[in-house]
Amino acid sequence: MKPPAQTSIFQDLYLDAPSVAAKAPGRINLIGDHIDYLGGIVLPMAIDVGIEILAAPDPGRPGAGRGYRFWSDSQTGDVPLSLSRDALHPETGTDRSWLNYPAGVLAAYQAEGIVPPPFAAAVFSALPHGAGLSSSAALCTAVALVIERLSGVSLGVAERARLCQRAEHQFAGVPCGIMDQLAIGGGMAGHAVRIDCRDETYEPVPLPGGIAIVVADTKVHHRLGSGQYRARREDCERATGILGVPSLRDAAPAAVEGGKAALGDVLYRRARHAVGEMGRVEAFIDALRDGDLPALGELMAASHRSLRDDFEVSCPELDCLVDAANAFGPERGFGGARMTGGGFGGSTVNLVERGATDAFLDHLRAAARSGFGNDITPFVATPSAGATSSDLAPDSITTT
Ligand code: GLA
Repeated sequence: MKPPAQTSIFQDLYLDAPSVAAKAPGRINLIGDHIDYLGGIVLPMAIDVGIEILAAPDPGRPGAGRGYRFWSDSQTGDVPLSLSRDALHPETGTDRSWLNYPAGVLAAYQAEGIVPPPFAAAVFSALPHGAGLSSSAALCTAVALVIERLSGVSLGVAERARLCQRAEHQFAGVPCGIMDQLAIGGGMAGHAVRIDCRDETYEPVPLPGGIAIVVADTKVHHRLGSGQYRARREDCERATGILGVPSLRDAAPAAVEGGKAALGDVLYRRARHAVGEMGRVEAFIDALRDGDLPALGELMAASHRSLRDDFEVSCPELDCLVDAANAFGPERGFGGARMTGGGFGGSTVNLVERGATDAFLDHLRAAARSGFGNDITPFVATPSAGATSSDLAPDSITTT
């Protein structure tokens, strides 16, 4: 059953009961950052915190038009916002900017000839925006599932991921890769997801039950981040051209070293990160299979240093939390720590032996308070299943 509170909020907003529900998890990336848009292999996992949407077709109700109505528990006010079915375009008002994600997904499906009837939707998010946990990709995926259910179609995970990625490119102006969308669609309980971003295939990788995965949101989000994200992609494209390879996925570490003079300092460091990170992902998967916590920790440390020094996407608050985690020490059950996701704020991901979790969480909270004055709430993330949707009958739910 849906939590009664959500259903009654929906009923208060739209004067009727919801008929479909969709939920999409957030994600963290264990290793492999800033290489999805280079066709690399990455290792994220879906987490047990996400976004839920309740929706119902809405012809002829008070306030209904030819379009779509959305309300979110993160918006100010309780008046649903409308999107026209015939004129979907990026929103500019700041209080409407979150609508770019639903609008972008609706437009991407429209372009494929999938046009749902007018509907009303209520979005409930447990994912903090800007925490680096992919709240935008989760929102897009949940909207996509609602569209599919109300249109009577069902796309595959990869096709849905591509449409959601297109929505972010075209309506949110973020030239993201496809990692987040595929992790959110392809998650499996107890597993990470090994994604080959070149051919957009994915497979589950079991995670050892004795190791807790701790996520720590700095609660810092540097605004320059999205422009810098695009700039890093462009740096990599230039490096690819200079090295004369189809993609940095095809560049061996020796080729990057050999091209050092031609690349110049900045592009050399960008390429060194990309090629090094690709190798670390494969080594990380091997170390997981062997249950080798020290090796996992070394790979995470090297990944963080590379993102900080070569790719320059970390920030003092992320570095502070990673340094603090390292200081906790293996003798107390610490495994490894690194920033996760796009950077410039957001979260770190940490591996720690289960028995040490409480002490480790206390340690991180104290480090954030003394290091940069933020009260943070690190938590143990559970590797979880991917996004799903269901029909809501008045007294029962059928899930497909
Ligand atoms: C963001 C993007 C992803 C990926 C990461 C960095 O989360 O949405 O596509 O590029 O940054 O790994």
